[in-house]
Amino acid sequence: MAPFVILIMCFISLAFVSYVHYASRQRRRGGHEKAAKLPPGSMGWPYIGETLQLYSQNPNVFFASRQKRYGEIFKTRLLGCPCVMLASPEAARFVLVTQSHLFKPTYPRSKERMIGPWALFFHQGDYHLRLRRLVQGPLGPYALRALVPDVEAAARSTLADWDGNVASTFHAMKRLSFDVGVATIFGGQLDERRKAELRQNYSVVEKGYNSFPNSFPGTLYYKAIQARRRLHGVLSEIMRERRARGELGSDLLGCLMQSRAPAGDGGAGALLTDEQVADNVIGVLFAAQDTTASALTWIVKYLHDNPKLLEAVGAEQAAIHHANHGGARPLTWAQTRSMALTHRVILESLRMASIISFTFREAVADVEYKGFLIPKGWKVMPLFRNIHHNADYFQDPHKFDPSRFEVSSPRPNTFMPFGNGVHACPGNELAKLEMLVLIHHLVTGYRWEIHGCSGDEVVEYSPFPVPKNGLLAKLRRDNSTAVSVDTDGSRNNNGVN
Ligand code: HEM
Repeated sequence: MAPFVILIMCFISLAFVSYVHYASRQRRRGGHEKAAKLPPGSMGWPYIGETLQLYSQNPNVFFASRQKRYGEIFKTRLLGCPCVMLASPEAARFVLVTQSHLFKPTYPRSKERMIGPWALFFHQGDYHLRLRRLVQGPLGPYALRALVPDVEAAARSTLADWDGNVASTFHAMKRLSFDVGVATIFGGQLDERRKAELRQNYSVVEKGYNSFPNSFPGTLYYKAIQARRRLHGVLSEIMRERRARGELGSDLLGCLMQSRAPAGDGGAGALLTDEQVADNVIGVLFAAQDTTASALTWIVKYLHDNPKLLEAVGAEQAAIHHANHGGARPLTWAQTRSMALTHRVILESLRMASIISFTFREAVADVEYKGFLIPKGWKVMPLFRNIHHNADYFQDPHKFDPSRFEVSSPRPNTFMPFGNGVHACPGNELAKLEMLVLIHHLVTGYRWEIHGCSGDEVVEYSPFPVPKNGLLAKLRRDNSTAVSVDTDGSRNNNGVN
């Protein structure tokens, strides 16, 4: 047969196969659309959708009002993207846990570029799994036990610097969470010059993160991209030095540097590249800092606004302070595990403040959920905050009441301050440790007064919610707070659970 005829026959077969594939896809999709309809809701204006409504009011009011009107699943369009919002525990579990393979993480390109495209939270599948296993070691209980002295040193030094001054609580707490993040990643081996370089460049990256992504020289975004390059430079230098010394370390950086992909064909698997390691170091710092600082800021506010509770927490902590000879001995891991009331205060603060009020995924195929179609390419947003503030799951949800965590555990999938499923927060135990240690030193050594407004009504987004001006407060040392413990060391919790 002439080559020309063979070519024509190949072409016809290819066209036929493509047609059959296309027709069956259309049929499948048509079937889906007939059986399932889009969720209720308003798509707003062409392209911008309801973006202006979202940004012109408190985002929680935006979501809550739509949930009231349309129910627990509704559609909208934000920043040019069609979205489906999910405000029920079952729907959040569907997207994040049971059908997570149908929904991929999704972030704007500009944010990916800023943090680094190899950071684990942008990925799914094998690479994500490998990174998760890697970070879980240095963030797990065994490693955290050894980190207590570093966390304690950071908490003491944050409070000592704040002592006597009016300062933004959020900024003070950011310093703490940065120092703890650095100790976790570099195992306390980083010299002050390097730490200052990291802090300085990282703060420029942060400023650019929420700015308009305009790469024109002089803009915040441009400066942030430059600072990110410098950060990479510093991290590469640290990695080179560790290799030259022949000691990679067992901290988070060491774990990332040593990890090999599963071996194939008898050969050893590949190491992560320096770029992959650096993106993940920046990613972990980023995930750790503002989240924990924001949660701590709300805790300081809630304790201030609930004097009886503060007294009871003070008594719980005073007993430990007393057992440690007035703070002369360091806190132990076991002691941090015994702070039952303080732990409940942390859980209730995480519920009330819902720092991460929702997350984003993108449907990788047409998905049907409870008779509704979630079309491929649409964004999907499980609304954690709406679930945390729903009276069906938390009685009197707007009341700050830590005792609700004593009476019973929340129903499954109703309490997700750290997310759920394959991307759930691997740093949650570190964050809680940091909060327990900070509260211990705050209530046993200091008193504080809030300057300006302390109400919930003025909330700023950075992007996480914080009280206005980051909660301006004056701190002063007061050792008498530690004395509210009975002389035998037993604690007096003033009847608060
Ligand atoms: C109060 C503090 C914190 C809160 C409320 C918080 C919350 C969350 C949430 C909700 C997620 C899941 C996001 C999603 O599913 O899209 C997440 C992921 C993550 N968090 Fe946290 N986090 C906190 C502190 C930390 C700390 C201290 C670290 C590390 C030292 C950390 C590291 C991470 C990382 C690496 C991820 C991505 C996990 C993945 O994609 O597999 N977080 N966090």
